[in-house]
Amino acid sequence: MNQEKANDPILVIFGITGDLSKRKLLPALYHLLRTGSISPATKIIGTSRHDLTTDEVVDTFEASILAADKECDPATIELIRNSLRTIKLDPSIDEDYQLLVSLLEKCDEGKKRDRIFYMSVPSTAFGPIIQQLAKVGLNDSRSKILIEKPFGYDVDSAAKLIETINTGFNEEQVYRIDHYLAKETAQNLLAFRMHNPIFKPLWNHEHIRSIHIRALESIGIEGRANFYEQTGALRDLIQSHLMQLLSITLMDLPEDMDSKDIHQAKQVFFEGLLPATTTDALRGQYASYKEEVSNPDSFVETYCRIRLRHSSERWDGVELILETGKGMNEKTTDITIEFRTPGVRRRNNLVFRIQPNEGISLDLIVKEPGLEDKMTHEALDLRYDTVFRDYMHVDAYERVLMDVIRGDQSLFASAAEVMSTWKVLQPLIDAWNQNGEDLKIYASGSKGPHDN
Ligand code: BG6
Repeated sequence: MNQEKANDPILVIFGITGDLSKRKLLPALYHLLRTGSISPATKIIGTSRHDLTTDEVVDTFEASILAADKECDPATIELIRNSLRTIKLDPSIDEDYQLLVSLLEKCDEGKKRDRIFYMSVPSTAFGPIIQQLAKVGLNDSRSKILIEKPFGYDVDSAAKLIETINTGFNEEQVYRIDHYLAKETAQNLLAFRMHNPIFKPLWNHEHIRSIHIRALESIGIEGRANFYEQTGALRDLIQSHLMQLLSITLMDLPEDMDSKDIHQAKQVFFEGLLPATTTDALRGQYASYKEEVSNPDSFVETYCRIRLRHSSERWDGVELILETGKGMNEKTTDITIEFRTPGVRRRNNLVFRIQPNEGISLDLIVKEPGLEDKMTHEALDLRYDTVFRDYMHVDAYERVLMDVIRGDQSLFASAAEVMSTWKVLQPLIDAWNQNGEDLKIYASGSKGPHDN
């Protein structure tokens, strides 16, 4: 990284003591500082609605890191203590933003530091905060906005949010996080497609029968009742993470792998997706959900599986299956590319294991040793924990932070992509909003509705 160019930024975290911040952001920041990946002169400002001392935030840092790593380096904690400022800021009070302006000027220490505003707050607060930042002039070319999903909850709300942001900021200043794209194995998917030309002639409907992307979680909603009641699995995982993974699996590869070309290729892919339909969708809810959210009438889905189709000739007839669920029997995210093998019952599958047991495997049909001509299938298996054992493990949020500091938007979702994905799903959202007649209840810890 060019630290000169990054200009020792100031990272302003709205909602620094929130759940996401504690679980993902603070450990990521700590690791980047500890490994020297970002400059020790980076400044951190934590905002909160309540009075919060620097020591309290440092304690939060320490607790988050201990929870994630089981150990915490005292020297890095001291570095954080010295870099950190806190400010009480009520997002709806104009004067509080003036205080933020003064604090930022102080933190500049005579330099023109880049300012990164990280929205670790409920999505309803994005618009108002962003408008206020623009109002007090914190939207010049030094400013970048880092936004967590969900980016809206349907076509109209996403369009409105984009419009609000656009009144104060250019698209180049906006970084919409999709942390699945920042996972190491997801990046390797693009690299794999680029640098293994033997697969290029196979990457079309003549050779590929289906793509199945799964993100299964054994955890439930972990106390996020309000959030989940307004979200559900389709919005939470499919509209964002899984559709993004689908696009990098199937988009036409750009000549150059620069951010602009990648986004253009993804956009062309998204525009070719046909609208989702109820006949090609299944939704479920784990058995204890209603009780957990104290809503006996809830028909919010905690599991969903949809089958999409693409209008291009290249992907004509290929089944694109996206599946996600909470309260499942395993935590797995993977992408399975199933090749056509006419006349053979078993198929060659190419599997990208995003997490856990990161790796890539290719199922081959081979003869079983012995006197009989009996066939079986075995995998050629590249396992990250073996092959890349001695390499630095970089968490998705570390990559997110590094990329925003470097100004690389490749792994973030553009406004156009967000709109296109909502458009594909809107017919399903509308149909599912009507009632929960087709909702299947499944036992927690099972394989989902199929298992029950
Ligand atoms: C988030 C979703 O985007 O991703 C959560 O809002 C989900 O519901 C989480 O649990 C899963 O992320 P990961 O990295 O643990 O697979």
